[in-house]
Amino acid sequence: MRRIRLAHQTDFSGWRDAARQGLLAGSAPEALDWRVEGEDAPDLFAAEDHAAAPIPGAEAPRVPRAFIGLAETVILHRDPGRFALLYRLLWGIQRQPRLLEDASHPDVHLAEQVARAIRRDIHKMHAFVRFREIATPEGEPHFVAWFEPDNFIVEAAAPFFVRRFTGMRWTILTPDRAAAWDGEHLTFAEGARREQAPTSDRVEALWRAYYANIFNPARLKLAAMTREMPKRYWKNLPEAELIGPLTRRATEREDAMVKAGPTRPPAFAAAEARRRPAPAEPVDSGTRPGSLGEAREAAQSCRRCGLWEHATQTVFGEGPERARLMLVGEQPGDREDLAGAPFVGPAGRMLDRALEEAAIPRGEVYVTNAVKHFKFEPRGKFRLHKTPDAPEIAACRWWLESERALVRPELIVALGASAAQALLGKRVIIGRERGQLMSLPDGGRLWITVHPSYLLRLPDEAAKAREYDRFIADLGAAWRLLQGAAQT
Ligand code: URA
Repeated sequence: MRRIRLAHQTDFSGWRDAARQGLLAGSAPEALDWRVEGEDAPDLFAAEDHAAAPIPGAEAPRVPRAFIGLAETVILHRDPGRFALLYRLLWGIQRQPRLLEDASHPDVHLAEQVARAIRRDIHKMHAFVRFREIATPEGEPHFVAWFEPDNFIVEAAAPFFVRRFTGMRWTILTPDRAAAWDGEHLTFAEGARREQAPTSDRVEALWRAYYANIFNPARLKLAAMTREMPKRYWKNLPEAELIGPLTRRATEREDAMVKAGPTRPPAFAAAEARRRPAPAEPVDSGTRPGSLGEAREAAQSCRRCGLWEHATQTVFGEGPERARLMLVGEQPGDREDLAGAPFVGPAGRMLDRALEEAAIPRGEVYVTNAVKHFKFEPRGKFRLHKTPDAPEIAACRWWLESERALVRPELIVALGASAAQALLGKRVIIGRERGQLMSLPDGGRLWITVHPSYLLRLPDEAAKAREYDRFIADLGAAWRLLQGAAQT
């Protein structure tokens, strides 16, 4: 058995070079022993590490882009078997090029599971890091957080904090690695001990007061909360000590809220829309807009179908003008109709979470809908979502096409049946078409998956978790396709 030493736990380039050498030398997976420098357990049977000679005339190994994306994620796991798992996969791919598409293959399945665990770990780190301010000799504020991720994800998770807290100077300490941002540079250092991190600061009381105020007892779902915020993270969350007392008093407070009744009637959009005078002239002239700003403005007075009449406003797409990825939903919901922005309500939160777990920065994605007005049915105080019909989808396609022409995304992900119908011009069965690259009649590239609301509607928790994972896998695969395209 030949021992391979990697320089550190996430040494992807070291692994890649060794794997390449192994393949060229024809070394079977069981002939290699993968170790990280400094962690060797004595092994009398392992040969010293020397490069194996390539077999004369050996062909260059086949390394699909999808494998690279997967491997870069899997290598962040703590399991020492991950290096061997990746090599087995790569070895298998040489013999079966489409191996990764075989979800029932035990190694493919395991690698997907591991990648999901990593994405979840990164998501939890993004959600549960809490900075505390410390005094510095220069008098400038510096923020320090302590966090214990399950895996070696600090490098992968850190860019999110740079984007979110660009103007702050901060350090995140973990047992394996530390990340620091000085306002200009992101650097990494060895891990730290918990005692090196502050345990409280002057804004903590404020943060706790804020949490206690936003806590809504009527929306308490304890099982969902502990699933989202597992207890092992609580020790680093200043608000966690309030959870017990607040949840114990939740029923009492909820009863009081019901008794008190609403303080003012909700301002419903239908009534608003009736009060608002219609624009004198539909500004939408049928000429293709020259910019997204122009398109957004023209769409405000769209009369291409009847949905404008009861909706509060047109909800146009949002995102960078040159986004490589476009996500298309169905239509704005109640929240989106009031806010004037797509995916800001419950489905939007689900989408945000999934994007984050799939490591897709929402800020780099153009997000829009097949239909730009909220279609609903008033029911008492509520406005119940109604699926847009084929003529409404067809009427609104003009706007979607305008957005596509302006943004020119390299890939479009249709979220659900209405979006797919808008793009393909025909009805599709999501279960049959999802998760594969399709061509649009005009040559665009399309990837279909479910709508996040579908996940919200599933009654059974197990199915919900399973479908959520599939949703993330679909999004991640679409994103990897784009990353792959960038490398060619
Ligand atoms: N559902 C959608 O399809 N789009 C939104 O913007 C919100 C919910």
